[in-house]
Amino acid sequence: MALIEISELHPGVRQLTFNRPDKLNALSSPLMAEFDAALEDAAGDPGVRVLVLRGAGGKAFVAGADIAEYQGDKRAEFIAYQMNSRRVFDTLERLPKPVICAVDGFALGGGFEIAMCCDILIVSHDAQLGLPEGRLGLSPGGGGTQRLVRAVGKYAASDLMLAGWRLSGQRAFDLGIAAEVTDDLDTAVLQRARACLKIAPLAQAEMKRLMREGFDAPVETAKSYEQEVLFRLYSTADGQEGIDAFLEKRAPAFRGE
Ligand code: COA
Repeated sequence: MALIEISELHPGVRQLTFNRPDKLNALSSPLMAEFDAALEDAAGDPGVRVLVLRGAGGKAFVAGADIAEYQGDKRAEFIAYQMNSRRVFDTLERLPKPVICAVDGFALGGGFEIAMCCDILIVSHDAQLGLPEGRLGLSPGGGGTQRLVRAVGKYAASDLMLAGWRLSGQRAFDLGIAAEVTDDLDTAVLQRARACLKIAPLAQAEMKRLMREGFDAPVETAKSYEQEVLFRLYSTADGQEGIDAFLEKRAPAFRGE
């Protein structure tokens, strides 16, 4: 049975489901290898316009790294696992397509780190998001400390990491992490995915890169990147098609060029 289940939710919308429900979809090494390959495939497939991530079983999105693999001070394997996770999570964050993350139940440790690498989070009311690594005597290793503090600031981040507090779906929404909190994840995910399909793909890829690279650059430099992108997009076929379609009162037919 596949540890990452791949399905087509809607034309152009691929869903990857973490499929290890008996272990709350914990990120074992074999699961990470399948996830890595599935991301590479989605990135290179022009038929995939939007990616959706979910967890199987209804109890968890992903409950973090597989703690059983950590036992016994296997330092070399531990470091290799962490380096690989960091690379895979960075690949996810840099995917030049919108990624929607649907969180039902637990998104802990590496599970929350994965969610934070996505673009749009839809969470259920019973979602529980957190970075509980400190309870194991450890700390996050897949970028979680840095992405969380940038997303919510030092104080909310400290509550999660130093007190091990978990965010409910509602609190994740209130903090601006989640775009929507709902008990009908299927409908909300499809609605967002279909909305993403209406945005020009090159514009999406560029806006993702601008948000990521501009965030840590001096603001005037970032504003220059922004204008370079806009001037480039303006002269693309899709840029002209979007303007023509608006003026001709029709839906644009974007081709990603
Ligand atoms: N790694 C390995 N196995 C895990 C796991 C993880 N991160 N999270 C859950 N599991 C396993 C449990 O060991 C259990 O397996 P078993 O049935 O063979 O004993 C199964 O998944 C169900 O989990 P369980 O703990 O019984 O469910 P619960 O509802 O009582 O508690 C959690 C749920 C999420 C609070 C609890 O499983 C937990 O704290 N998990 C670890 C979270 C974590 O620290 N993540 C960061 C890792 S660095």
